[in-house]
Amino acid sequence: MFFQMCPHLLCFLLLLCIPDTHSAKCPEQCVCDQIQLTVTCNSKNLTHIPPTLDEITVKLDLRGNDIQELPSGAFKHTPYLTHLSLQRCNVRRVKEGAFRGLGRLVFLNLANNNIDILYQESFDGLSSLKQLLIDRNRVEEIQPGAFSQLGFLNLLSLTHNQLVYIPNMAFQGLQNIKWLRLSHNSLNYLDTEALAGLFTLTRLSLDHNELQFFPTETMTRLPEVTRLDLSYNPMTYLGEEVVSMKKLTHLFMDHMSLQDLDPTAFSKSSKLVHLDLGHNQLRVLQPFSEGTSSLARLNLAGNPLSCNCYLRPLREWSIRNKVKLLGTCGGPAHLSGESLEAVHPPELRCQSQEAMLRAEREEAARITPPPTQEPKNKVKCPANCACEADTHHSSCENRAHTKVPQGFSPDTRLLDLRGNHFHFIASSSFPGMTQVVSLHLQRCKIVEVEDGAFSGMKGLIYLYLSENDLSSLSPGAFKGLPQLTYLHLEKNRFTGFPRGAFSLVPSLLALHLENNSISRLEPDVLLGAGSLRSLYLTGNAIGNVSPRALEGAGDLDTLHLGGNKLKEVPTEAFSKMGSLRDLRLSGNTIRWVGPNAFRPLERSLKELYLDNMGLEKMSQSSLAGVGPGLRSLFLEGNLLEEVPDLHPLSSLEVINLAHNPLMCDCPLLPLRMWIEKVNLKVRATCANPPELIGRRVKDVQVFRACPGGESLPPPPHRHPKTSQGPQSHQTQTDAPQRPAAGQDAQSQTS
Ligand SMILES: *[C@@H]1O[C@H](CO)[C@@H](O)[C@H](O)[C@H]1NC(C)=O
Ligand SMILES: *[C@@H]1O[C@H](CO)[C@@H](O)[C@H](O)[C@H]1NC(C)=O
Repeated sequence: MFFQMCPHLLCFLLLLCIPDTHSAKCPEQCVCDQIQLTVTCNSKNLTHIPPTLDEITVKLDLRGNDIQELPSGAFKHTPYLTHLSLQRCNVRRVKEGAFRGLGRLVFLNLANNNIDILYQESFDGLSSLKQLLIDRNRVEEIQPGAFSQLGFLNLLSLTHNQLVYIPNMAFQGLQNIKWLRLSHNSLNYLDTEALAGLFTLTRLSLDHNELQFFPTETMTRLPEVTRLDLSYNPMTYLGEEVVSMKKLTHLFMDHMSLQDLDPTAFSKSSKLVHLDLGHNQLRVLQPFSEGTSSLARLNLAGNPLSCNCYLRPLREWSIRNKVKLLGTCGGPAHLSGESLEAVHPPELRCQSQEAMLRAEREEAARITPPPTQEPKNKVKCPANCACEADTHHSSCENRAHTKVPQGFSPDTRLLDLRGNHFHFIASSSFPGMTQVVSLHLQRCKIVEVEDGAFSGMKGLIYLYLSENDLSSLSPGAFKGLPQLTYLHLEKNRFTGFPRGAFSLVPSLLALHLENNSISRLEPDVLLGAGSLRSLYLTGNAIGNVSPRALEGAGDLDTLHLGGNKLKEVPTEAFSKMGSLRDLRLSGNTIRWVGPNAFRPLERSLKELYLDNMGLEKMSQSSLAGVGPGLRSLFLEGNLLEEVPDLHPLSSLEVINLAHNPLMCDCPLLPLRMWIEKVNLKVRATCANPPELIGRRVKDVQVFRACPGGESLPPPPHRHPKTSQGPQSHQTQTDAPQRPAAGQDAQSQTS
């Protein structure tokens, strides 16, 4: 080591002269080690670099002194330095050329000082430097070219500073950088070119900043990054394909404010193995779309996940793709605290709408802090409203305002105005509110939304206009909402589809129009809503769907048409709906489902709801085509005596046939054979002939007498019913079923 560090001749001379140099060259306050060539002057109140340092010194430790300024050429007498420690030295200023002459320095620590500006030539001359630590200073400005001479630097650490923005090309010249640490700053925006030129960077730490959006463009310019840490940034949503980083394997996005993310958010990062989404606000998460096939671990710990039917596709996907899920259920009560890995997909069920709403309300009541609690920090807030600086939430809920209050802090993210009496929303009602992500206007007696009412709300993602009195919308109502993704218009007074209004919302993904009085879907009502994925029209009065009604929304994957007045399956309207996965027609009055009714959806359909419709007959080929893909089929509460052969439904995981007057005789043999074959709980009971009323199709013996039914198993040997003993539970399960309506509707499988 020693001989590597210095030229042979010099070392030789030095060895000869040790006794002399020692006394002559070691500064009074310091400890010098002539073998290791180190000088330590730790916490000595030094105000200057000691002038009497031995030229041959390799490691210099000056921690804990009071050197306020590092002048130009401060170390010119120690050109062999490889390590220099200057932490806690009250350094305010590093003058241009301060380190000039230190061409052998590999490690420089400037942490815990008061440096605020990194000048253009602050680090000139450090042509061998590998690690530069400037953590815990007050850096708020990086001048262009500050790092341009550091061609060998591997690690640059700037954590715990006051960076608000990074100028374009700030890190230019770092041709060997591997890890850049910018954690614990105040970055709220990264320009496209902010990290330009970092072609060798593999690791980037940006946690604990103020980033509200994933900086897609900036990140895509970092071709080698494998680990990215964005934890503790206030992002609420991740849009389509936002994370597009070819070599990324580890991504940390925990402790953010994510409420939702697009299933394709990560699909352009095909090497991703570990994704941490812990401690966000996610209640439900859809399976990720293709493109994330390397993913092995997904951390969801600390999210308020509702383990209900909406989470089921994710759970199924995780099993199918062998993705380990970490985290636990936040609800419902019976699954609360259960580890996600321990929950089997069939356990993820939904209660009735009503029970769910009730549970939500109870939870909201639990979370909302008592109104007496005063907000901690002062923040701009209109009269008769409550605003919180920490969370950026402002609320004027139920305060009888008749006009939209003005004067909210411009960094408000959630604005809750529900339960007021606005009657109409005038144009530009929310000036300067560019940061609002979620706007609540439920129950405000709104009859009209003027053109441009929300203009300027560039960041708005969730807009709630439910439970108002809207009967129409002008085409300009949603002008100026480039990010609007979820729009709630349920429980208004629409009698026709509010066409036209959606062509100005390019990002609209989900449109809620439940519980209005829309009576028909005319041609092209969705024109312009090309990004729409989910359309909810449950509880209207739709009796007629034009074959061209859904044109223009070819990416629709969810269509809920339950509780309307349809008399037949609107097959023709599905002709261009090649992505539809979830179709609900429950509660219409469709008596007959004809051949090929769902044929246009054969490649996509996964869930089909045909329950409680008074359905009397299904054609044998009514489900033709959808067989291999269909996962759930709901047929309960109909008038079916027979069902079509279910053998082609090879992927079925859930089926409900309860409350149908099934005729247990030979025509039903295919169903009986199918039940024998599949490992599903099939709620099917006989209603005929009279002697079999209430018996499970699976338990009756009539089918063994039908042609082809010989292979069915003989009746199990039964003990006489006893109330005691190990067999008692078994015996009860085998007993004829009592009609138990409520229970049947909930549990389709076991
Ligand atoms: C440094 O200065 C402070 C205050 O001036 C004093 O209390 C302390 O003893 C000094 N330390 C040394 C090592 O001289
Ligand atoms: C629609 O109305 C029904 C009946 O009042 C209710 O159960 C359901 O929750 C409502 N749905 C929405 C989305 O408002």
